[in-house]
Amino acid sequence: MKAIVLNKKTYKLEIKDVEKPILSYSDVLIKLKAASINHHELWSLQEKSLRSDSNIIMGSDGSGIIIDAGAGVNDLKKGDEVIINPSLNWGANNRVQREGYEILGFPTNGTFAEYIAIDQQYICPKPEHLSFQESAALPLAALTAYRAFFNRGEYEKGNRVLITGIGSGVAMFALKFAVALEAEVYVTSGNDHKILRAVELGAKGGVNYKESGWSAKLLQMAKGFDVIVDSAAGKGFKELTEMTNPGGRIALFGRTAGNIENLSPSTIFWKQISIHGTTMGNKEEFKKMIDFVSSKKIRPVIDSIYSIQEINLAFDKMAKGEQFGKIVINMDKFNNDI
Ligand SMILES: NC(=O)c1ccc[n+]([C@@H]2O[C@H](COP(=O)([O-])OP(=O)(O)OC[C@H]3O[C@@H](n4cnc5c(N)ncnc54)[C@H](OP(=O)(O)O)[C@@H]3O)[C@@H](O)[C@H]2O)c1
Repeated sequence: MKAIVLNKKTYKLEIKDVEKPILSYSDVLIKLKAASINHHELWSLQEKSLRSDSNIIMGSDGSGIIIDAGAGVNDLKKGDEVIINPSLNWGANNRVQREGYEILGFPTNGTFAEYIAIDQQYICPKPEHLSFQESAALPLAALTAYRAFFNRGEYEKGNRVLITGIGSGVAMFALKFAVALEAEVYVTSGNDHKILRAVELGAKGGVNYKESGWSAKLLQMAKGFDVIVDSAAGKGFKELTEMTNPGGRIALFGRTAGNIENLSPSTIFWKQISIHGTTMGNKEEFKKMIDFVSSKKIRPVIDSIYSIQEINLAFDKMAKGEQFGKIVINMDKFNNDI
């Protein structure tokens, strides 16, 4: 089969012929229709951090059609339209993933390929109201947003919500989930146009974190937050703790703006703020996320759709932070080289 393989010298992606995956007892073989890209793959490309003697096929997000199933596969069959849960080997503890946990795409080969073989436990039916491209936008980002918002952010009806860096794929899903529950939700962005688009999608308002006095302006608008979903950390995190209401929660899942500086302990302990690290989610959360998306008929915001041949351009766009929502790759036309 053909796959998009990491060139371990240049750290660019290129199309190569590789072995088609072998089906194990409880695996399904999927012909991929669409994939989407995530910032963690961009970190790997920028930091040149992946080491392996074998071909590296990245890609955490994918949707497609089952074309074969192992003898131990129960409820899935050829022709089923499915999406893949990229959160592998979470384990039994809901609080945290176990040692040996991994995100599909490394070291287990991922979705940037014609076919993938994967255990049936990681497969869910594609939501009926979504296309393959829309479905491929969901897995990693929507799962992370679901756990961050509901489990670690402990959202309750009536809570006021802040979502930072709304251009992020994960942030966009957090916004969609909050709006679906009619929460009062605000956003930040480094781009005024993205704030306007978030308001069109149901946010009550937002501020540009690149402008001085952004947090004071936000507090004037919103008077404090019960749930904050943050992917940036960095210097601005201190202001997030100042904007958190007593008893509020900050669910932190990223490091886009670097290390946190100058936190005031008394702000945290006096207001009894909980700062909750959060990563991906477990199988139950994946299923709940899909059910929520299906029942509320939520549609992902797709920034752009690239061909396989353009995948390096897609990552260039993400590196510039130009996107609003998810960047999707069409996976069904492998004929030309990149
Ligand atoms: N722990 C996990 O399970 C998990 C899962 C997914 C992602 N992540 C991490 O979360 C981060 C975002 O991932 P993604 O895939 O959603 O990324 P993405 O789509 O590339 O979005 C990154 C966004 O970060 C925002 N940003 C940049 N500087 C910021 C700042 N100083 N303050 C606030 N926001 C800022 C920008 O939003 P604007 O354009 O609106 O300014 C940008 O669009 C990455 O660090 C990624 O590694 C972690």
